Amino acid sequence: MIRRTFLTGRRVFFLGLRCFSSGGEITADAPADLTQQASLYVHWPYCLRRCSYCNFNKYIPRGDNAHVMTECLQRETEALLQLSQVSSITSVFFGGGTPSLAQPSTIAVILETVSRRVNLSDEAEVTLEVNPTPVGMAKLEDYCRAGVNRFSIGVQTLQDDGLSLLGRDHNSHQALRTIEEARRLRPGRVSVDVMFGRPHQTVGSWERELSELLRACDDHVSLYQLTLERGTRLFQQVHQGAVAVPAEDETADMYQCARTTLQQHGLVQYEVSNFARHNAVSHHNLSYWKGRQYIGVGPGAHGRFVPLAEGGGVREARTQTLEPDVWIREVRRRGHGTRRRIPLHRLELLEEALAMGLRMTEGITHKHWGMFSPQLGLREVFGSSADVQELLHSGHLILDDRGLRCSWAGLALLDSMLPALLVELETQIPQRSPVEHGAEGRRPPPS
Ligand SMILES: C[S@@+](CC[C@H](N)C(=O)[O-])C[C@H]1O[C@@H](n2cnc3c(N)ncnc32)[C@H](O)[C@@H]1O
Ligand code: SF4
Repeated sequence: MIRRTFLTGRRVFFLGLRCFSSGGEITADAPADLTQQASLYVHWPYCLRRCSYCNFNKYIPRGDNAHVMTECLQRETEALLQLSQVSSITSVFFGGGTPSLAQPSTIAVILETVSRRVNLSDEAEVTLEVNPTPVGMAKLEDYCRAGVNRFSIGVQTLQDDGLSLLGRDHNSHQALRTIEEARRLRPGRVSVDVMFGRPHQTVGSWERELSELLRACDDHVSLYQLTLERGTRLFQQVHQGAVAVPAEDETADMYQCARTTLQQHGLVQYEVSNFARHNAVSHHNLSYWKGRQYIGVGPGAHGRFVPLAEGGGVREARTQTLEPDVWIREVRRRGHGTRRRIPLHRLELLEEALAMGLRMTEGITHKHWGMFSPQLGLREVFGSSADVQELLHSGHLILDDRGLRCSWAGLALLDSMLPALLVELETQIPQRSPVEHGAEGRRPPPS
């Protein structure tokens, strides 16, 4: 049975790619934009309170350590840029936590650090996530002065009772005001996060919510399907029967309803959970889905890049230390708080390219695949598999002169199709490196 795609707009931490060699790894011989460029993700780990559903890496600040955080984010940015040896940063994303709690001067310092070390073009997309509270809104203009040119606003819903159930610290009026102000400052460059599958929601109420949102929103919408995360207050409430969430079928209908409604209003779907008008796509997120390098700075941030300065030729999946106080100590001691490094070899690289690339409506072009698999094309890998043929015949998957992609119906079922595709990939490319398991969890050497 084909099941629907697990839909989340969560920042994609787990996938990216690596260098090139005859074995298919990304080495210094790779096309320049695979090793010379990267995007930068900066994690601000603090929130004023815990939303009832969220298990992201976030902490309630015990005191004001903004100064120390700024110093350490700056140091770690410098260290990881040096390690990667990239010559340019193509986009920057300040995420969290609540990065709109950071001072605009912190944002400016980090951007200046990047510009001092590498090329950061004036046109590069610089996004900041904003919680739509009066505190966040009041700083928008200063964030623009600091260099932010795109805002991503965590609206979630425009229903006040829905917001309080989620434990959010804003109301619908504040959300609308923040969107308005952000659009005034950065017209056409404002995204809103909205959530479905929430307690007490129905397809009808979601449809009405979307209409209201469409009257207010700018040119980009990210859909989040509520995931019940173990350890959260909402998870407990639902399991104790105190709160009910919509059934899976109803949530699937909400997704289809949103796709159709947004499309009708000119917001074109370009990824499983992202929609844009006037081509106002998120270039930063596209770089994840296209398997480009990214550097993750800040507690718990993830990255994918080749540490060229160490003489390494293999892309690594890198994770920074989660807990801010520990991370601060590590950055002060050795310049960065990298906790885990996993070399990505040929099969892992291609698995990532596949799973990420198929999230985009344009899918994986032959050229895109060829950057990671110069010897074995899409048709050679997938063309002869009976399971893949079945997906092609059912119309959920398309393999043609453009490349491999999901159809409209198939995109909603991506998670169910991936296992067959991954099995085929593993059959065709059996080399799984022994390093993968050995390196996991090991502390990296100082760099
Ligand atoms: C982690 S937050 C960071 C930005 C900001 N603090 C905010 O809340 O908007 C980014 C997005 O992830 C969403 N999110 C967090 N936990 C989620 C969950 N369990 N299910 C669905 N979306 C979730 C949030 O609602 C938010 O839109
Ligand atoms: S504000 Fe954002 S990051 Fe913080 S707890 Fe809420 S959803 Fe999570």
